[in-house]
Amino acid sequence: MVVVRLFRAPTVPSARVLLRGSPDGLPDRMAALTAGRDLVPLRAGPRDVVLIGDPGLARDLLTRPSGVGKGRGIDALKFLLGDGLLTAGGDLHRRQRRLINPLFTPEKVAGYGMVAVSVAEARASAWTDGVRVDLLDEMGSVALDIVGQALFGTDLRGDADRIARALDILLPIFPTLIRPFGFALLRVPNPVRSALRRAGAELDAVVERLVEERAARPDPGGNDLLGALLAVRDEEGRPMPRQQVRDEALTLLLAGHETTAVALAWAWFELSRNPEARRWLEVELDDPSTESAIARADWHALHRTRAVVAESMRLHPPAHSIGRRLLVDQDLGGHRLRGGTLCLISIYALHRDPRSWSDPLTFAPRRWLDPTGVYDERAAGAPRGAYLPFGAGARICIGATMAQMETTVVLARLAREFHAEVAEDFEPGNQAAVTLRPRRGVPATLRTRAR
Ligand code: HEM
Repeated sequence: MVVVRLFRAPTVPSARVLLRGSPDGLPDRMAALTAGRDLVPLRAGPRDVVLIGDPGLARDLLTRPSGVGKGRGIDALKFLLGDGLLTAGGDLHRRQRRLINPLFTPEKVAGYGMVAVSVAEARASAWTDGVRVDLLDEMGSVALDIVGQALFGTDLRGDADRIARALDILLPIFPTLIRPFGFALLRVPNPVRSALRRAGAELDAVVERLVEERAARPDPGGNDLLGALLAVRDEEGRPMPRQQVRDEALTLLLAGHETTAVALAWAWFELSRNPEARRWLEVELDDPSTESAIARADWHALHRTRAVVAESMRLHPPAHSIGRRLLVDQDLGGHRLRGGTLCLISIYALHRDPRSWSDPLTFAPRRWLDPTGVYDERAAGAPRGAYLPFGAGARICIGATMAQMETTVVLARLAREFHAEVAEDFEPGNQAAVTLRPRRGVPATLRTRAR
């Protein structure tokens, strides 16, 4: 009966309201719909759709041990990523996650920290006073260098243009694919499908080269991702199929650099807009102990830098929404929802909800520090589930620790030496594709800091 009340009430808006207007407005439309509401049913033909606006319900859904699968957005990614960790479900996901988890232990991340330091160091040497750059591009290539060296044990700089070109094609098409009947575009010949295939082929060529090179190296099962994937054997002693190796490698290559790049680009933008917060950060960066903390990639010691990154990801979560499909009928927040219901969690809306955050639209990194100046997520005082940049539950981001280390170390190292001037009237806007990017990038003039 509750299902009937939820979805047949005359006031229930159509899911079309989400699709009306530019795809880039989607995060704001979701935030407007969930404003002050815990659960918003939407009419979507034979399918039920609910938007979740309550942090407790969002966490509850994401942490359910069973009965919940990934939503339609992920299906759209499957044509590119196949059955890699992000897109796989069920037993395959559990098996692959167990296999890949050991690459992200704290010890491994500490090792990747040294890579992050040396990549940031090299970038600092390449930057000069007064140079004009787009910080989205700069952070994209920094993040790609780090993933290449840390996870693939190789230099991806020669492939950077290829990868960027492919992403420039793929990301804007993604919102079209997740619209009703968007998949039809993949079934019949048309210019969109051709462009997607070209982009997919570019990425495949990069990954194939990586796999071939790694397979030819004599140290099987080395410390890197490809070594581990190529060395694994099942109960019958068979290696992982090459297609699976390709899917995992491409997933980690894309998931591991695009999100981090976007997080860093937004952080630079916010610092340029908030000089008071920048000066507050620079007190930490100029402290004599900071140089050695950066050199050791001791990101836990960089409390203010962590706070800046956390606050920037609150306002601009690189993964702006998460979808889940209910596999069976179940209760959520006292409502009976049918199996098949698509549940949408707008991380962007949760992060800006005035019910959870004071001054939700203000960039206030201080909120993340306790009274002794130590970074503590609880210090912000938001309820559990109100801050989910990496998701939650069994599908929580496998690279979350690596991402936090990397963004903190890179920002600390570069912002210690440079600050970015962005034109006062510049508005980056949102590009809501797979990630929430600054649509117009972050064009800036770099200035060497007098210390
Ligand atoms: C600031 C950077 C990052 C953000 C904001 C981010 C965000 C997320 C989120 C929200 C999810 C969960 C999606 C869902 O539940 O549907 C996720 C999953 C995932 N992320 Fe990240 N991520 C970041 C960096 C990374 C890095 C550095 C890597 C790897 C090197 C990575 C690899 C993955 C993978 C493989 C998954 C799928 C995990 C699974 O389903 O088991 N991410 N990420």
